[in-house]
Amino acid sequence: MDTLRDDVYRRPLATALDRLGVARGWRVVDVGAGQGDVAVALAEVVGHEGRVYAVDSDPLARDETASAAAAHSQVVTITQTAEDLLLPEAVDLAFCRFLLLHVVDPCAVVARMAAAVRPGGWIVLQEPITSAGRVGGAPLSMPDARHADVGALLPALVRTCGVDLVDAWAEAPAGAGPGPVASYLTSLTGVDPCEDPVVLPPLVTVLGRCR
Ligand SMILES: C[S@@+](CC[C@H](N)C(=O)[O-])C[C@H]1O[C@@H](n2cnc3c(N)ncnc32)[C@H](O)[C@@H]1O
Repeated sequence: MDTLRDDVYRRPLATALDRLGVARGWRVVDVGAGQGDVAVALAEVVGHEGRVYAVDSDPLARDETASAAAAHSQVVTITQTAEDLLLPEAVDLAFCRFLLLHVVDPCAVVARMAAAVRPGGWIVLQEPITSAGRVGGAPLSMPDARHADVGALLPALVRTCGVDLVDAWAEAPAGAGPGPVASYLTSLTGVDPCEDPVVLPPLVTVLGRCR
């Protein structure tokens, strides 16, 4: 499912990395790295002179990321909770996508991410507003997520954590009929939308600058 997610949400990721100007040599961390799609995308931008820490609480995710990033020796996989995030060095960028909706206290995690960044460095958060997604005009829900609509809170969240809000926007993949949008929705909900129009949960991106 991660690969499907990566397909449909690839554009918001590319937009964020582009707007930020992530460059070769950057040290970055992807928190809640899952199967490593974002870590690999970051590794391609920072190059071999950079470093990507891929952190996840699930040891299985570490193995999957290590396998996905086998060609990128700059990716270092770590099994650690976001709440306990501790890296061997300060990073230029702390990133997360589809993480905060699952954690107990999103604010505590963002504060921990900000603490991992050098002064003047960046945090980028990409989280959904699940209930703003639509299938055949009806709102989506994700009962298993602790904070399914956390995306709507992100701009305020970074400010609460003492990080300067630089930019924020929302993007939602949409489609009708067969294709990656319908397949991703089916993997998420178990329901095939058939010919119903689908708007996937908009992903809110915030770019914040650490003091
Ligand atoms: C929905 S997946 C997202 C994966 C990836 N970020 C992406 O966008 O494709 C959420 C990931 O966060 C991890 N996770 C959940 N709670 C966590 C926590 N408290 N600390 C670290 N990782 C966590 C899960 O193990 C899972 O791999």
